[in-house]
Amino acid sequence: MGGVDRWPSRGNPAVGQASSSIAAPAIRIENLCRHYRMGDALIRALDGVTLEVRSGEFVALLGSSGSGKSSVLNLIAGLDRPTSGSVVVQQRNLAQLSREELARYRLHTVGMVFQSFNLIPSMTVAENVELPMRFAEVEREKRDRLAGAAVARVGLQARLNHRPNELSGGEQQRVALARALINRPQFLLADEPTGNLDSRTGGEIMNMVREFNRQLGMTVVMVTHEAALAERYAERLIFLADGKVVDEEVNPARAATIRGDRDAEGPRP
Ligand SMILES: Nc1ncnc2c1ncn2[C@@H]1O[C@H](COP(=O)(O)OP(=O)(O)O)[C@@H](O)[C@H]1O
Ligand SMILES: [Mg+2]
Repeated sequence: MGGVDRWPSRGNPAVGQASSSIAAPAIRIENLCRHYRMGDALIRALDGVTLEVRSGEFVALLGSSGSGKSSVLNLIAGLDRPTSGSVVVQQRNLAQLSREELARYRLHTVGMVFQSFNLIPSMTVAENVELPMRFAEVEREKRDRLAGAAVARVGLQARLNHRPNELSGGEQQRVALARALINRPQFLLADEPTGNLDSRTGGEIMNMVREFNRQLGMTVVMVTHEAALAERYAERLIFLADGKVVDEEVNPARAATIRGDRDAEGPRP
């Protein structure tokens, strides 16, 4: 991994640690249920999901619309509470966190991107990207510096003072990626990140997500209904249907390529 910039200070366990696969899973979801009551009907959005994600992995959650993918991601993100079952992230059961701890978790441990970008229209690129640092009460100078670096990382330094409606969809998603990165989270949670983009632009976004995974060591959980996309980028595919995990497979093509690429990053004869 020589020459690539790494996550500073916070110490991502996935970076430079070959033995991460034998450590406790980074995310452990057990018998997770999320039910909604709609009048007399009970909707089982999640109905006993059990899965694990290892530190440094790139996992895709696949399934048709309504299968429960976003529900899983929102629960990992701490945006929602389960009906029953548990979500344990880095050995912390999210259900046992206080309101303040959960807020800190959302701010520092996970970064999220969505199909619809979710940028604040009245704010510039720079302001959107630094917003999570404002919440984290980072001082101005450091905010500016880190926001500038994150925006440069996604190649938009010339657009710092533009507003989202002056940007293309692909550029808006790059801003959202920069925002997701800004507090240096260990996890990137992506919900249909290319769903509103054409395939070429979507590919550019996915290549950035892959860089975050490989170079920064971020653990990626991506939701998608597109099998081809998952097969191109993810190391492992987890299939959901009707709120349950119905299949799971290591992506042989990706796993092999990733190993090859990592070998290729080392010194060459
Ligand atoms: N707030 C909610 N109230 C009622 N039903 C919901 C709510 N959120 C999700 N659902 C239902 O839960 C199921 C799973 O939704 P979701 O996780 O969004 O699926 P996916 O992301 O795979 O399309 C769907 O049937 C959906 O309609
Ligand atoms: Mg969804």
